[in-house]
Amino acid sequence: MKKFSAIVIAAGRGKRMRSKTAKVLHPVAGRPLLWYMVSLAGRVADARVVVVIGHQAERVRAFLEQSKAEFEPLDIVLQPDQLGTGHAVQQARTVLMPNGKAASRHCLILNADTPLLGRATVKRLLARHEKEKAALTILSTDATDPRGYGRVVRDGKGHVVKVVEEPDAGRAERAIREVNVGTYVVETSFLFKALARLRARNVQGEYYLTDIVGLAVAEGRRVAGMKTADASECIGVNTREHLACVEQVMRQRIRTRWLRAGVTMLDPRTTLIDDAVTIGADTVLYPGVTLEGRTKIGAGCVIRSHSRVSNSVVGKSVTIEDSSVVDSAVVEDQATIGPFAHLRPGSRLRKQSKVGNFVELKNTELGAGSKANHLTYLGDTSVGKQVNVGAGTITCNYDGYRKERTMIEDEAFIGSGAQLIAPVRVGKGAVVGAGSTITQDVPADALALSRSPQVTREEWAAKRRADFLEKTPPAPKSTPFSRGRKKGSKEPPSPLAGEGRVRGK
Ligand code: UD1
Ligand code: CA
Repeated sequence: MKKFSAIVIAAGRGKRMRSKTAKVLHPVAGRPLLWYMVSLAGRVADARVVVVIGHQAERVRAFLEQSKAEFEPLDIVLQPDQLGTGHAVQQARTVLMPNGKAASRHCLILNADTPLLGRATVKRLLARHEKEKAALTILSTDATDPRGYGRVVRDGKGHVVKVVEEPDAGRAERAIREVNVGTYVVETSFLFKALARLRARNVQGEYYLTDIVGLAVAEGRRVAGMKTADASECIGVNTREHLACVEQVMRQRIRTRWLRAGVTMLDPRTTLIDDAVTIGADTVLYPGVTLEGRTKIGAGCVIRSHSRVSNSVVGKSVTIEDSSVVDSAVVEDQATIGPFAHLRPGSRLRKQSKVGNFVELKNTELGAGSKANHLTYLGDTSVGKQVNVGAGTITCNYDGYRKERTMIEDEAFIGSGAQLIAPVRVGKGAVVGAGSTITQDVPADALALSRSPQVTREEWAAKRRADFLEKTPPAPKSTPFSRGRKKGSKEPPSPLAGEGRVRGK
């Protein structure tokens, strides 16, 4: 018989979060709370993992389905009404007691809202449970602020006798600092027998899972308690304050992980790395960098301050200068981005390509060694190798109805300030003259120009200046601040010299 099944109870609404989103879907370091617990359950249990869902069941189920590949096989069961934690666990009966026979010797029960709980701690709890041959083993910790938690009540000999929920606790019980973490190991056959006997006779009118502790003691079954010293692991997220606290601890853990793996951070406190992110050694992260979602950063990259990389794959030795955003993009080795660049979804920078200041790319590939260095928008565009895209180039990819593609072939040269009206193709090695509006395909090696011929009038500017000065007498001698300023006027002087005087005449 297998030893340990796991039950994650995630059906609660999380009223205290004051949110439209179910509590267990609130993210911590980029993953929903529930992810951490389901992942932990899968790593410690050798038998089935059951997740009990209820509030916003469809959304929670969708998340579990979509993350299926990351988890051990799961059973999802529904708690139709949220009648308490004991009632939630009861819903797993059909899966864990098929035909009235236990599917595994013991069950690990996890609240879904303690994402910092470590695998090592849970492993120790399972070992303790086996060693003590207990019917029930409960994890506790001494909290500096026990408010909101169930208190663990022990007898004179130090044996656990019951857990009292705060609303039901008397003054003396409230003073107890040892709290129930919401992690239990229970002999499966005892568990479901005890759950059937729960009554909702308490202040909250709920079926408390915690009441099985008292039931075990009353039956003379062995109850073990394991106290963990690390209270930060045990935070149960009930409010946004708890969520913020858990976020801080999780972020710190993730930073430590990458610092140990050879990543440099100039100011770790302001460096935010989501849990699913991976980073190569010798990458340097400047203050205020955010790495989100499923981002992968290669080795030897430099990411400067206030840049954000989301759900992107970045190769080796890539430089991302300050204040750039890279979203759902692929960046190959030795490419350079920014400062102030925006790579939108579907962008791909090939090796050693370069995207400079105030350049935006969307659904665009920039070929190896190609450059778009200044003030440019490239949307729905394929740019070949060794292309130079001049400053201020714009691909006009949208006609108000449809998006169209622009193709720029290898070694083409797009002069500054060009507009390429899609769909359009610039052939290999072709040159587009600066300031051109290109509406037709340009053959390979051709020059395309579309600007009106220049008009030059000798002395025109000098004449205009003389004309103007003739009509405007010279300024009286005065300080720059008194010039043209009416008495009592609060307005600063106009920068157009003479204007005030003309009016004052
Ligand atoms: C619970 C414990 C408390 C412990 C604390 C640790 C009980 C009665 N109390 O209190 O002793 O100190 O956790 O954080 O168990 N849930 C359901 N269905 C329900 C109700 C809750 O699935 O009907 C789930 C929630 O989604 C959550 C977990 O059970 O993941 C705990 O529920 P919550 O309401 O947060 O319990 P606490 O009041 O924190
Ligand atoms: Ca809780």
